[in-house]
Amino acid sequence: MTLTYGNVIPPLDGNYHLKDYLKVREGFSWEQVEKDFSWYESGKVNIVYECVDRHVAEGYGEKLALHYLHGSKEVRCTYQELKDRTDHLATILKKYGVQKGDRVFIFLPKNLDCYISILAAIKIGAIAGPLFEGFMEESVRDRMLDCGAKVLITDPVLGKRITKSDFPDLQTVFVVAEAEDCTEGEVSLYEEYRKTRADQDVIEWVDLEDGFVIHYTSGSTGKPKGVLHRHRAMIHQYITGKWVLDIHEEDIYWCTSHPGWVTGSVYGIFAPLLNRATVVVNGGRFRAEFWYDIIQRAKVTIWYSAPTAFRMLMAEGDEELKSFDLSSVRHVLSVGEPLNPEAIKWGVEKLGVRIHDTWWMTETGAHLIVNLPSQSIKPGSMGRAFPGITVGILDESGREVPVGEIGQLCVKADYPGLMKEIWNNPEKYRSYFPYDGWYVSGDLAYVDEDGYVFFQGRNDDMINSSGERIGPFEVESKLIEHPAVAEAGVIGKPDGLRGEIVKAFIVLRPGYNPTARLLEEIRLFVRSELATHSAPREIEVLELLPKTRISGKIMRRVLKAWELNQDAGDTSQLDGGVCLRVALVD
Ligand code: PRX
Repeated sequence: MTLTYGNVIPPLDGNYHLKDYLKVREGFSWEQVEKDFSWYESGKVNIVYECVDRHVAEGYGEKLALHYLHGSKEVRCTYQELKDRTDHLATILKKYGVQKGDRVFIFLPKNLDCYISILAAIKIGAIAGPLFEGFMEESVRDRMLDCGAKVLITDPVLGKRITKSDFPDLQTVFVVAEAEDCTEGEVSLYEEYRKTRADQDVIEWVDLEDGFVIHYTSGSTGKPKGVLHRHRAMIHQYITGKWVLDIHEEDIYWCTSHPGWVTGSVYGIFAPLLNRATVVVNGGRFRAEFWYDIIQRAKVTIWYSAPTAFRMLMAEGDEELKSFDLSSVRHVLSVGEPLNPEAIKWGVEKLGVRIHDTWWMTETGAHLIVNLPSQSIKPGSMGRAFPGITVGILDESGREVPVGEIGQLCVKADYPGLMKEIWNNPEKYRSYFPYDGWYVSGDLAYVDEDGYVFFQGRNDDMINSSGERIGPFEVESKLIEHPAVAEAGVIGKPDGLRGEIVKAFIVLRPGYNPTARLLEEIRLFVRSELATHSAPREIEVLELLPKTRISGKIMRRVLKAWELNQDAGDTSQLDGGVCLRVALVD
């Protein structure tokens, strides 16, 4: 392989599914992809049938579907076992009255029970709501309350973060444990498995437009919003799994994300299972040696992760890396935040593979901008529009800007992965489509003459820390619940490792002194109620916060400019009295 850093990195020779991007793009139709699904002939739709049961029906029951590794512990589950286990749990859910459209929340660590619970709920037509294991009480409560969760599946540890009486619609809490480890009112799933015989025909047929999974996500205002996806998204998820992840029959595929995030469900469960891959499920937390060990032991061939993880591995140095055999890896992908050219260089030099960036969002349901294995990569670019996807860079009036100019990154809203709705919030849903036919992402970007898209930042105050999307409003609201905090403004501060970190500017109530101890207490308060990744890594105490003169809104833009030592731009709205940054502590 010849390498040319700076401009392009050519593809390695290989057996790719999608060889001729331009030709395929020209003749591409989503209808053509539909022919690969069994429902195209049978008319019977359910994404879980296509992910699991279908492979068994076609004679692949013995193939390994899930391979769980956590420390020295390993559990394997074939496609036949996955069918049996999802049938069994689906039967139990039905017995407890779960019906099509009901919301079943899953609050479990990344393990086989988590995957099986998500698939079982969807199998009977319910909507699965996977929750990230790092969420604390309030994050869980906001999500489950918003969409009236009927059932929760959890374990004895995470279940403790939930107060059942908070949820008027919640009928059953299943706990993956024996009865003696459950508290009153909880149902032991182990006991239920022994008591209930699995119904082999438990599957519910649905409509392509029916919802199957809901992911909550943050923006710059308000509480997290419920993004509902429909079964139709399988068309998009399957074909990107095939062409972007490039899954072949013999591949062992590992996505490092938890299913509580959209990457961990769409590309951790659905896309790889639709393509009949063997999926690696990693338990435990991030540690370089654990991760390398997983690749070595499971013989991972395709690896999907995030820039922060690559940067952390890079920071660990070569010593660790060299003590493992990582030669099984043939294809690496990245998502969630800008992928630094240095990380791509690291991949080429240390792993002998390119890292392929992909761009999409919770709302878009699947990849939109990608680097295909057969295409040249331009470091710094997220890649090109996937076949069937039309990208546009629009100005504020909704007109496309010329090549090379920065504008709003938009996508024609005519593809099957796009969300069905924002739960209980049609107004928010409509706000994504201010220009006729376009979905507006909130990102800023430009496109070069070859169609490569270059990310330039967000058009709003959303924070992206380690690829995790954090709404400043949510953190600010939590901060002011602390008795010492009168006001709070939260921004994303650029960070070499995490992309951005959460930085809070606060004003203390009278009588409180800005001691390091108090600030740490405030930080831990946010962490214990929301999640570790939402807690500010830096807190700065100010005398006053910059606010607009008329509405009194905190101007995060000004806080950010202060932080970056930049010009704050138009400050005519700023309340005259508080223009100065007066820090009380460092
Ligand atoms: O700002 C973009 C950033 O992550 C946002 C979407 O976040 P979320 O809905 O949590 O989904 C994450 C993964 C699907 C986008 O609006 N983002 C995502 N991918 C990239 C990215 N920023 C730069 N480069 C990417 N490849």
